[in-house]
Amino acid sequence: MKKNTIKFFKQKFPFIIVFLFGFISLFGQTVTIPIETQDQVILLQTDSENRLRTVYFGEPLKNEKEYAAIAELYSLDDANKGIFNSVYTPAGTWNLTEPAIQVKHADGNSSLELKYVSHKREEIDGATLTSILLKDPIYPFKVTLFYKVWKNNNVIEQWTEIQHSEKKPVLLEKYASSNLYFSDRDFYLTTYAGEWAKEMQSVETKLQRGTRTVDSKLGTRAMLLQSPNFIISFDHEASENEGTVILGQLAWSGNFKHEFEIDPYDNLRFISGINPFESEYSLKPNKTFKTASLIYALSNNGTGEASRNLHSWARKYRVLDGEGERLTLLNNWEATYFDFNENKITELFKDAKDIGVDLFLLDDGWFGNKYPRNNDKTSLGDWQENVKKLPHGVGYLVKEAQKEGVKFGIWIEPEMVSPKSELYEKHLDWVIRQPERPEVYYRNQLVLDMSNPEVQDFVYGIVDNLFTENPDLAFIKWDCNSVIYNAHSEYLDKKGLPQSHLYVEYVQGLYNVLERIRKKYPKVPMMLCSGGGGRGDYELLKYFTEFWPSDDTEPIERIYMQWDYSYFFPSIAIDNHVTDWGKQPIKFRTDVASMGKLGFDIVASELSPNDLQFVKEAVANYDSFKDLVWHGDLYRLVNPYKNDFSSLMYVDQDKSKAIVFNYLVNYRQRLSTTEHPIKLDGLNPNKNYTVQEVNLYPGTTSPINSEKVYSGDFLMKVGLNSIVNLQRTSVVLEVKERE
Ligand code: DGJ
Repeated sequence: MKKNTIKFFKQKFPFIIVFLFGFISLFGQTVTIPIETQDQVILLQTDSENRLRTVYFGEPLKNEKEYAAIAELYSLDDANKGIFNSVYTPAGTWNLTEPAIQVKHADGNSSLELKYVSHKREEIDGATLTSILLKDPIYPFKVTLFYKVWKNNNVIEQWTEIQHSEKKPVLLEKYASSNLYFSDRDFYLTTYAGEWAKEMQSVETKLQRGTRTVDSKLGTRAMLLQSPNFIISFDHEASENEGTVILGQLAWSGNFKHEFEIDPYDNLRFISGINPFESEYSLKPNKTFKTASLIYALSNNGTGEASRNLHSWARKYRVLDGEGERLTLLNNWEATYFDFNENKITELFKDAKDIGVDLFLLDDGWFGNKYPRNNDKTSLGDWQENVKKLPHGVGYLVKEAQKEGVKFGIWIEPEMVSPKSELYEKHLDWVIRQPERPEVYYRNQLVLDMSNPEVQDFVYGIVDNLFTENPDLAFIKWDCNSVIYNAHSEYLDKKGLPQSHLYVEYVQGLYNVLERIRKKYPKVPMMLCSGGGGRGDYELLKYFTEFWPSDDTEPIERIYMQWDYSYFFPSIAIDNHVTDWGKQPIKFRTDVASMGKLGFDIVASELSPNDLQFVKEAVANYDSFKDLVWHGDLYRLVNPYKNDFSSLMYVDQDKSKAIVFNYLVNYRQRLSTTEHPIKLDGLNPNKNYTVQEVNLYPGTTSPINSEKVYSGDFLMKVGLNSIVNLQRTSVVLEVKERE
């Protein structure tokens, strides 16, 4: 009865609950707010001045009431100590540490203080959303901190909303998403640098006093230089199965900044958000500025569990159609580059059918008439079929592909413009450039000004026209190959808005377009591509089903790269294509590409008969185990950075099926063969399993005995020797529960 009454009040009068919290705090009582996942709690508490601080990070307590007693065990208010753990450090008043927020009020004053007012909790989309209102006691300026917690996934999404009712706009000089604080531990940080075809190069360092900054100022495609992904490991280097880790990213598709600061007490402050570089934002009265989200998974059992947590959260709640299906495909890019015509393309449909993939993807080079797109120097922006190459248009290709029993998809790069294009000639005002300076190109192209609503309409129109004219079009590859040089917007000038809005409004404009596209075309699969850096982030992946992690498809390199990406993204979202990069045989290349969404970028008709037979069988095999790769739990078994071999496996939810990928990564002759078994993971110790090798190259046999029955207990404690050696450089094993 009592419980029901509270529930009734919560539902009918949530503001009463909010008011009560506020009331308690007004009268000087300490307010304690636990942000709890299944395995961790971030504990927030007000101090005697009603400022909100992070007072604890650790395992959750059984009795919530006991949280209030934690902070008094720490001498947090002595000397300088109390200034480091603010939940959202304001600038210009009492706190002189690196701020999370810095503003200039309407009257030009730069001081900000934030005091706790109230907080509330709601259940939303399978998550608990805690929002905490902080206000400046002098200026009508407020900040709301949001913590969205998917408790069972141990995943938190954190963002901030900023508002004011001052007489004129307030200048936001810095506006972080989050300001985390962890104490009493050693901290090891892994971050990822990149460049074209060398994405996700990891480096792990023990953080020392001072600040480590990881950021991007490229405007678009941040991962070309630095990735917004990170792993923080507590007390020791990140390990796959042990220790506390936090692993995540800033979900923002433009400039970001992470600041990891070890304070004089050896605690870690982590401030993350949109990069304030050239990005002061003038916020009008009563408008809301919503920051990007910091998304992270927590685990007390190492990076393996943390990434499984993040993967299952991403599939269920974030990636478009994350729990659905994907299309295998044949792409013509590396088969033809720009050199193709209608006949060449329709011939390739036969290859697609022959190898058994679902879709043919027509890449770059199909458009532009005044300036035909025959190389990468022209035509971006002129999205009409080139009449010489494709006299019967895209519609004809869609139909011809269908006749062969394959779907048809197409490449676009809608945010870009070539200086040699009709669009550039007609709409110089849409191009990001400094009018008084020489243009600077990246891949011979420039970026369109997505802050301009007319440009947003144009970009939306590219996709909408393609689908309207070709309703059976089944796939879009959305590329992005340039950074923003000479950042300047004619539109913002015309509107009297500051140029410093450009980086932020570019990204917001992109999200607006994608929002509109997804309203009309909710499910059509779209690949997010950026050859050079990848462009995978959890804001864009709300609209895209998958992303292209790198142009580097050399399979040995790919083992390392896919390993690193796998910390953050589920395999269903990662596109891996078999190409002619590298010297590895087709089997090796296909096995590696099978650990994700499989595609091919080869001329299948030029394969040797055995290679072709292998590819056909491998596609059929992939169809039989893809459900495991797309929806199963990933276990990273043997780290290629530390061993001569690498091994990863995917297990289904019932633990009745698994697929294990094993590769040789060190090709020194002295290596004989895998000398010892590799322990499998994620199986049921009480079930019995058989193990069969698949993806065998024609004419070879497997030394793995498929008749033998092993318990899950055995396979996880003793393991299995997949017999990888210079003759068997990649081995794929299917583990099945014995019926
Ligand atoms: C870069 C992409 O990564 C490639 O796959 C291809 O689509 C080219 N762009 C086309 O210009």
